Amino acid sequence: MDIADLIVEREEEGYFAYHRSALTSDELHRAEIERIFHKSWLYVAHESELPARGDFVRRMVGKRPLFAVRSRTTGEVQVFANSCTHRGATICRQDRGNAKTFQCFYHAWTFDSDGALIGVPDEETFGPTFDKSKFGLVPVPRMESYRGLIFASYDPEIEDLVDYLAGARAYIDAMMDAAEVAAAFSANGNGNGNGNGKPADGWSGPLQVLRGTHEYAIKANWKLLVENSFDGYHLGPTHATYFQFLKDQNVDVSPSTGTMKLLGKGHAVIEYSGSWGRPIARWAEQFGDASREQLDALRAKIIDELGDTGFRMAELNRNLFIYPNLFVMDNNATALRVIEPTATDYMDVAQYELAPRIEDPTVRKVRLESYVTFAGPGGLATPDDVEALESCQQGASSGVEWSLLSRGYFSEEPPMSGELQMRTFWRRWQEQLLDGALVAP
Ligand code: FES
Ligand SMILES: [Fe+2]
Repeated sequence: MDIADLIVEREEEGYFAYHRSALTSDELHRAEIERIFHKSWLYVAHESELPARGDFVRRMVGKRPLFAVRSRTTGEVQVFANSCTHRGATICRQDRGNAKTFQCFYHAWTFDSDGALIGVPDEETFGPTFDKSKFGLVPVPRMESYRGLIFASYDPEIEDLVDYLAGARAYIDAMMDAAEVAAAFSANGNGNGNGNGKPADGWSGPLQVLRGTHEYAIKANWKLLVENSFDGYHLGPTHATYFQFLKDQNVDVSPSTGTMKLLGKGHAVIEYSGSWGRPIARWAEQFGDASREQLDALRAKIIDELGDTGFRMAELNRNLFIYPNLFVMDNNATALRVIEPTATDYMDVAQYELAPRIEDPTVRKVRLESYVTFAGPGGLATPDDVEALESCQQGASSGVEWSLLSRGYFSEEPPMSGELQMRTFWRRWQEQLLDGALVAP
């Protein structure tokens, strides 16, 4: 089927559907990697994960092995292809750590933290013209960081990251500003705590990624998790267990209401009320009394300093989508969700929990519990979503050909439980596949 025919839209009926071969075709999967993943800005890591010189993290990004390292000479982060320039073995073989040099385990070529090749056993056997300086590690074509979020692109011509982020920038800024207020508040020893929540060594930005990554895999096409991660419609039915859990703790579970905004270039956000607690900064029964005074005071401080934006950051939840595969999930805790399209019917997901650089220990405890309870591997939400997505993937091979995304088609104010954000995602997806096809050989 032609890419142009994969989406059918009939405006007068408010009908929008995509063909399910988009979830099952290996040919389309290859095209997506080339024309979407290799032509976008892709999230790699957060700067707080590499606070010291020589710190590194290893990642798969758009199906390519990479590692990011903070240079021992300049203190800047660089992102390299994780591949030896000799015969290709991966150089960085640990998920994270600190290193003086990186030595390839195959024939022991050694590189420094700037990627320069500094050691070749029996170097003279490569001939008189062999020049080590030509065989340094290969950096990704583009790397830029925005407020601590490090992105890479395989497209040397891609627009600058700040332009690419379009309307998503304002949401990232608001989140960082609220975290800055929270960090300063805790550092001053306000509330119940004594202000000794641990800052990330050497990291001075507002937010830090906490140690430990939540990694899981889903036997489903990556686009199903994109849809799911900003789908307000599924909350009640899919997550009934979580709402019962809240109810059992006397949390009022009136349904969430909220809005959806398109942020340009495929990005979008849903912003909604929730009866549950938020570590920045909304106390609810599930958090227990110990954190109440602290959270109420922090909430007042954020609203006082940031006005309406502060109120939104303290009170409302947000699932912010940065096309094509990153979500900032800011609800009962704050996490970055990165979707890696491993195969047509398989994805790897990594979630990194974010917290203010300095945080009151009582609030930190509540945050960790809240995150694990909802989104953790044995949590009350993630397994339900995994089941839903794997069943959609099975259904995609059933012979029923079309998936419907018409909800909210005629709504004037797009509701958070509508499907306009998904229609916009699929349109951008199709556009990029078509654009790429025009220049492909
Ligand atoms: S492949 Fe790395 S030294 Fe040979
Ligand atoms: Fe969900």
